[in-house]
Amino acid sequence: MQHLFILISDCFLTDSLLLIYLDIRRRAYIDKSAFVCAHQSTLLFQHYIYSILLPLNCLASMQMGEEAHFYGNAEVYWRDVPPTVDGMLGGYGSISNIDLNGSKAFLKKLIGEGEGKTGTMCALDCGAGIGRITKRLLLPLFQTVDLVDVTQEFLDQARTYLGEESKRVGHYFCTGLQDFVPEPGRYDVIWIQWVIGHLTDEHLVKFLERCQGALRPGGIVVIKDNVAYEGVVPDDVDSSVCRDLQIVRSLVAKAGLRIVHQEQQMDFPKEIYQVHTLALR
Ligand SMILES: C[S@@+](CC[C@H](N)C(=O)[O-])C[C@H]1O[C@@H](n2cnc3c(N)ncnc32)[C@H](O)[C@@H]1O
Repeated sequence: MQHLFILISDCFLTDSLLLIYLDIRRRAYIDKSAFVCAHQSTLLFQHYIYSILLPLNCLASMQMGEEAHFYGNAEVYWRDVPPTVDGMLGGYGSISNIDLNGSKAFLKKLIGEGEGKTGTMCALDCGAGIGRITKRLLLPLFQTVDLVDVTQEFLDQARTYLGEESKRVGHYFCTGLQDFVPEPGRYDVIWIQWVIGHLTDEHLVKFLERCQGALRPGGIVVIKDNVAYEGVVPDDVDSSVCRDLQIVRSLVAKAGLRIVHQEQQMDFPKEIYQVHTLALR
């Protein structure tokens, strides 16, 4: 797919723009976790280039074979990643505390007793990896937590990583979210962090619909993820995409969910994507 991009962009771009595009791709391979631009001019070129590429990479119209590659390549990528916090965060393990503290402050505004509040019986960690979020955010706040991830090795590691508290894990589900059907009416909170980019638009909408059906009364779905400056930015290293906020919002609306609270995660390094957290019901 990458070669197709380069070939087609060749028709549209001048030589110098094409060179810049190739340089951006090269850097994406070097820094797979943060496909970002160090300075404004590159950002503008990226913006221009992806506005051309976007229609070619339309996730909504992915064919069966392309879809199988999109998911298959991601699985192969994650199988090679070490089962550590650093591995989960693409080398940015140092931001884990800031992330988790931000998430805790966000969630505490929504859970508890009373009208409109979300209960604390059971949570689901989607794309849970080794359980980084389960350990520090969900298990301290919920009686039971289930984990779902496509990489078996991460779930195996989670049992060790979560330690004594792993006894309060209900289920470890090893499956892709595109195929996962959460139990109807089971969850107060369904936490989906740094994984929506691994789903096609259609699968994301359908998954969110299933999540809505899996909520207990007053329950919420939370998406916390990178957002692109504009459009959809593909990452062919880990076989994912990064969508802009407007696109994420429109997919959420398509799933019949409404945003009840939204924040931007502060204090992350400047060079990585902006991260936004959306609570939905
Ligand atoms: C960037 S890591 C984030 C892990 C965890 N959410 C965290 O923040 O620590 C992405 C995780 O998504 C998982 N993943 C990738 N594609 C997936 C899919 N289609 N369904 C479920 N999990 C997937 C990977 O195995 C990996 O554990």
